[in-house]
Amino acid sequence: MRKKLIAGNWKMNQTVTEAGHYFEKFKVKAREDVDLVFILPFTDIPVAKFFISRSSIGLGAQNMYPAESGAFTGEISPLMLKDLGCTYVICGHSERREILGESDEFIARKVKCALDHDITPILCVGETKDEHDAGKTEEKIETQVRAALEKIPTDKVSNVVIAYEPIWAIGSGAAATADEAEAVAKLIRQIVKNIAGKKVSDQVRILYGGSVNAGNINDFTGEKDIDGALVGGASLKPEEFISIYQKA
Ligand code: G3P
Repeated sequence: MRKKLIAGNWKMNQTVTEAGHYFEKFKVKAREDVDLVFILPFTDIPVAKFFISRSSIGLGAQNMYPAESGAFTGEISPLMLKDLGCTYVICGHSERREILGESDEFIARKVKCALDHDITPILCVGETKDEHDAGKTEEKIETQVRAALEKIPTDKVSNVVIAYEPIWAIGSGAAATADEAEAVAKLIRQIVKNIAGKKVSDQVRILYGGSVNAGNINDFTGEKDIDGALVGGASLKPEEFISIYQKA
């Protein structure tokens, strides 16, 4: 049985002061059956850690450079993230693929580096509106998942969380339907099975992301192959994010 996961991706939002006010309001009873993780701007991670240190809430970063140290100006290493208390890191968010041009190959290096440092990678995959409308979703998802996982030792693949985030649903307020999300989650699980076998594919947690809110979270987590959500905008509102976690 896979444990559910609700992760909140703040993206480039909330100063340290705003993060402090947020966590002063974020009071929730922990659930045994659902992991809760905040994926924060690097600057907010220490203040979040102060507030959640005595809870089971997890911390993660939105990016990481695949090297322990060196001349990589502006980047953050896995050692730095672990030092901050991070146990998760997003690899390949569509905004980094589309805006910053991160390649499948570079993202694969990040996934492997995260696993090598015992940080759980949240691999983001998803198609553009044009690809969706042209019926190319399956092809795109297969390409992205294979590129990220094919060089990972089979026994490590089950540690990867995969988030299906259709780009056309991100920030739009128009989420995919649960049926659409489940179809892609089922496809992702089949691809993982083809790469690493059934036992591993049964263990991998697959999330949906793209305009998730307290009103639709149940539609997604009620699906067989969807184990939670990667939440953007709704995670910036303490009450809404608490409700998403409680309903998941
Ligand atoms: O990483 C999660 C994010 O891309 C989804 O954003 O605002 O549509 O929930 P949002």
